[in-house]
Amino acid sequence: MKTYADLWIGYKERKANRDCTQLGKFYLSGADKADKIVKNAVEELKTGLKAMLDVEPKIVFGEAAAPEEITNGKAILDSEEYRISLREDCVAIESKSGAGILYGVFDVLRTVACEKEIGKTYAAGKRVRPANPLRMLDHWDNMDGSIERGYSGESFFYVNNEIVINERTRDYARMIAAVGINGVVINNVNVKQAASYMITDRYFDKLTELGEIFAGYGIRLFLSLNYASTIEIGGLDSADPLDENVIAWWKDKMAEVFRRIPTLGGFLVKADSEGRPGPFTYGRTQVDGANMLADIVKEYNGIIIWRCFVYNCRQDWRDKKTDRARAGYDNFMPMDGDYHDNVILQIKNGPMDFQIREPISPLLGGLKKTNQMLEVQIAQEYTGHQIDVCYLIPEFKEILGFKTYCKESDDTVADIISGNTFENRYCGIAAVTNTGNDFNWTGNYLAGANLYGFGRLAFGTGLSSKEIAEEFVRMTISQDKEVVDQIVNILLPSREIYERYTSPLGIGWMVQPATHYGCSVDGYEYDRWGTYHRADHLGIGVDRTDKGTGYALQYNEPNASMYNDPEKCPDELVLFFHHLPYTHKLHSGKTVIQHIYDTHFEGYEEARQLAKEWYQLKGKIDDVIFENVSERFERQLINAREWCDQVNSYFFRKSGIPDEKGRQIW
Ligand code: GCU
Repeated sequence: MKTYADLWIGYKERKANRDCTQLGKFYLSGADKADKIVKNAVEELKTGLKAMLDVEPKIVFGEAAAPEEITNGKAILDSEEYRISLREDCVAIESKSGAGILYGVFDVLRTVACEKEIGKTYAAGKRVRPANPLRMLDHWDNMDGSIERGYSGESFFYVNNEIVINERTRDYARMIAAVGINGVVINNVNVKQAASYMITDRYFDKLTELGEIFAGYGIRLFLSLNYASTIEIGGLDSADPLDENVIAWWKDKMAEVFRRIPTLGGFLVKADSEGRPGPFTYGRTQVDGANMLADIVKEYNGIIIWRCFVYNCRQDWRDKKTDRARAGYDNFMPMDGDYHDNVILQIKNGPMDFQIREPISPLLGGLKKTNQMLEVQIAQEYTGHQIDVCYLIPEFKEILGFKTYCKESDDTVADIISGNTFENRYCGIAAVTNTGNDFNWTGNYLAGANLYGFGRLAFGTGLSSKEIAEEFVRMTISQDKEVVDQIVNILLPSREIYERYTSPLGIGWMVQPATHYGCSVDGYEYDRWGTYHRADHLGIGVDRTDKGTGYALQYNEPNASMYNDPEKCPDELVLFFHHLPYTHKLHSGKTVIQHIYDTHFEGYEEARQLAKEWYQLKGKIDDVIFENVSERFERQLINAREWCDQVNSYFFRKSGIPDEKGRQIW
C-alpha cells in the first residue's frame, strides 16, 4: 500500500476523449530527445494516457532545433515555452527545451484528466509561456524532520538529520512539475546548527542525487544558507562580508559545493532577521552581505535570493513611533540599484507577516533597479493551520493585480515579478509551502488546492481562482459536475469567510502567540514583535498616516494619498492605516463596531454553511477524503465560534456599545 496520495498525478480512468484518434500519436519537436526531461515527459505521457484512456501513444520525434516562431523574445522565458497543436493524425508538442515539452505533456494530461475535449482545446493551437521565470516552493523543513509552521506531518526530505530519497521524492518532483514549479528550497530559512552542515561532505552525495531527480523534471535545487557558516562550520571567528578570510573561506566552500552538486541553483538567505546572523553584526549593509556571496557563486551560474524580512523584533509596545510595517522599505529602499545582477530580493506580500489581509509591501513598486521576487505563504500559519479551509488563490490574485504606479503602464505586482516592468532576468514568485509526510501531503485535503493553485498561478497569472479550483477538484476528487460545483463553492469564498470570523479590517494578529492558531485578541498586544491593534475604550487601529508612523507615505501616488486618508482608504484595510473611533462610519455605511459584530456573526454562520455543504458530499466522493475534511470542519467550527465570541465580547466590553441587532454577546 502506498503511504501517500497521488493527488493530480493519480490518473484515474476517464470517459471523455476516448474517440480522439490523435491521442494515439505524439509528435515532439524542438528539444533534444536524449534530454532526460524529455524522457521523463514521454514516460509521464505514456503512464497517464494508459491509465486514463487505455491508450498507448506512439512517440515520434521531430527536429531538435526550435521552431522559428518560438525562439524570439526573452531567452529565459522562451526556453520553457511550449506549443500544442493538432495535426491530422497526432498531437504535436513543440518547445525549445525539455522542460517545455514536459509542461506541454502535463497540459495534455490535465486536459484529459479534466475531461475537456482535446479537439476543442488544441484545434486552434495553444501556445503557453510561463508568466514568471522563477516559480519556487520554499520548504521550512528542519533536519530533525520537524517542519517550522508545518501542519501536515513531518518532513519527507529529512529524518533524524539524514536526507531521505525514495519513491515519494520522485513523485513529489512529478507533482510539482505538473503545476509548473521550477525551483525548490528544501530546508528552513532558519538554518539552525545541524542544517549548516548541508554544505559539507556529509550531505553532498544525497544532495547530488536529489538535485538530479529534480533536474529530470526541470526543477532546480536550492538551499537555505546560514549566513554565519564561516563561524558555525568554518572555524573562523567572523562572518564579516568584507573580511578577506571570510571571503576566501566562501570561495573555497562554493567551489566545493557547486563541484559536488552540479545542479544546484543557488541559495536563499535569511540574514539579520529574527535572531539570524547577518552583515549588520559587523556594521555592514545587506548589500555587502548579498553581493559578497553573489560574486562568488556567479561563476557557477548561482543566484542569491536575499529575504527582506528584516525588522526590529525587540520592540517596546509602549513605543508608538517604531513601526514594523516600515522596516522592509526603510532597510532596503536606500540601496536600490546596488545589488549585483545575480541577487534577487525576496519580499513577503505584505509588510508584516502573511496575515489574512495586509496591504501590499511598498517595496514592490518601490524598488526599480533590483531583481525582485514575491514571497507568499501557502502553509496556513495565520490562516487556519490547514484545519480551517482557506483557499488562498483569490488573495494571490489580488496581490498580483495590485497597481503599484511605479510606471505609467505594466506596473502591477504581476508585471514587476515577471520581469515585464523592469526587464529583469532573475525574478518570480515563491511560496512557503504547505506539504509534509501526511498521507494527503497537506493535512486538510482541500489545502491541496493551495499547492496546486500556487503552481498553476505562478505559471499562468491570468488563470482565474475558479478555473484553478475546478481543475483541482476534477483532477483529484470527482468529475461529477454537481460535486465539482459544490466543492468549488466551498473553496472560493473560504478566504473571506476566514477573514470575517478572525481579525477585522486589516488589523491582523489577535492570535495565540504560541501557535498562531486560535483567537487571543491581546495575545501580541504587550509583546515585543511590533504587532499591535492599539484598541482602547474609544477606538482601534494603528495610525500609519503622515501624522502617525508615516508608513502610508512609502507608497507611490495615488496609493499613498488613498491609504493616508480614512475617507479614501478601502474598508478592508482601514484599521491597518488608521486609529479610528468605534463609531466611525465605513464606506459600507456601518460603524466600525457594528462591522466587527456583523462580520463575526456572519463569518461563523458562513463557516457552518460551508461545513454543511461538505457533509452533503457523503457517499458521493472518496470516503478517505470525505472523512479527512469532515474532521477538519469540526475543528474549524470550534475555532470560528471561539473567534466570533471572543472578538465580539472583547470589543463590546471595551466600547460598551451594544450590537444593533441584539445578538448574544458574552
Ligand atoms: C514568521 C514565522 C517564523 C518564520 C518567519 C520567516 O515570523 O512565524 O516561523 O521563521 O516568519 O518568514 O522567516
